[in-house]
Amino acid sequence: MMAEKFIVTPCESLRGNIEIGGAKNAVLPVLAAALLTEESCTLQNVPSLSDVDSMRILIESLGAKTTTTGKGTILVDASNITSLEAPYETVGKLRASFLVMGPLLARFGQAKIPLPGGCPIGSRPVDLHLKGFAALGADIDHSHGFVTATANKLHGAKIYLDFPSVGATENIMMAAALAEGQTILENCASEPEIVDLANFLNSIGGKIRGAGTDTIKIEGVSRLHSKNIKHSIIPDRIEAGTFMVAAAITRGDVTLTNVLADHVKPVTAKLKEANIFVEESDNGIRVFCDKKMDAKAADLKTLPYPGFPTDMQAQFMSLLATASGTSVITETVFENRFMQVGELKRMGAEIKIESRSAIIEGVKSLTGAQVVASDLRAGAALVLASLRADGITEITGIHHIDRGYDHLELQLNQLGARIERVSEKTIDTQA
Ligand code: EPZ
Repeated sequence: MMAEKFIVTPCESLRGNIEIGGAKNAVLPVLAAALLTEESCTLQNVPSLSDVDSMRILIESLGAKTTTTGKGTILVDASNITSLEAPYETVGKLRASFLVMGPLLARFGQAKIPLPGGCPIGSRPVDLHLKGFAALGADIDHSHGFVTATANKLHGAKIYLDFPSVGATENIMMAAALAEGQTILENCASEPEIVDLANFLNSIGGKIRGAGTDTIKIEGVSRLHSKNIKHSIIPDRIEAGTFMVAAAITRGDVTLTNVLADHVKPVTAKLKEANIFVEESDNGIRVFCDKKMDAKAADLKTLPYPGFPTDMQAQFMSLLATASGTSVITETVFENRFMQVGELKRMGAEIKIESRSAIIEGVKSLTGAQVVASDLRAGAALVLASLRADGITEITGIHHIDRGYDHLELQLNQLGARIERVSEKTIDTQA
């Protein structure tokens, strides 16, 4: 398929309502968890994203069946698993593929998954996942770029995570769901997506308590049953945060619906600190600005939930790039998540990186430029920065953006943006 790019023409303030879709980072682990039962289950509010397509292809390559039965509704049937080995090409495309290891190990006693490589934002090791599986009684073998975990029967354990890793918490929780006895997972992640996964596991007969806190207790059961279970995926707090920042950058007035205010509290608090108004009501969250007040500089540090989410760091940097004053952003979760800085500087932003911090001197306005999206959230940040830039912006690498947003350009255009998705002309190298 031809590569595509966005052509962004500066727009007026964004105005109107936007409905938030299901959370990418909730549906990916739940699709993996569906491998734990030999009965089918129905997932609702599933977003239409390329990462979701990739996860469906992965579990289908293992023998599961997934059928779209309506808008945002998928029937998953893992009754007939024919392989315990994830193909190399899928894990390369989707790091979350590693989340099938826990379910396969728990249900079949074996899983062979390619060791995920690094990615633009960091080395992304999986040592905490593997330490957890070993604590549950699995033998772990590394060879030829694959990790193989085997266990006759997993047993409960007390596991303390060195870092509250989201993926490790999810993978170990899924494995422990079918282990013999109790598992206590301490210093674990408490993101809303962990709670959604625990709710799904409990709906199919799991016994999980404490999800959403730093300690989760799992009582292993012998089997899980998903017959006639319907699970609706929680709204995407990062998609919501992205639109909140879009309203702020364009000095607009946008109301988000189908969003859980609690899940976006850190972003709401930071927007208020930056002189942006945020009002929560029964019909959603309204983000608006006082034209007479500039957005103000604010410092932020990314932290595991409930701290400021690392997945919102790049988007917020685009707002601070045109806020009045000097802001400091410290990225504590990933070691290389400032990939958007170089491209924002090409648009006229004044940003200096010092170790894990970026110092941002707000400028009056950015200028349009040709820029490249290096990863999902850096790409989203460039779209936001281009909305009010002085002149046209061309953004290539937008396949990264399609991984986590369902036609971001159509949703923003519905609010008044002017973004065109065009095929990139391949330069005829033979000429
Ligand atoms: C999840 O990734 C999300 N992805 C990421 O969202 C998100 O940025 C991240 O959590 C942090 O919130 C999905 O849920 C599919 P981690 P994950 O394990 O699970 C280190 C997006 O934009 N670590 O919490 O991979 C790791 O290197 C994506 O939607 C280890 O050292 O994140 C990183 O520095 C990007 N050893 C930190 O922990 C391990 O075994 C956080 O990683 C595991 C992780």
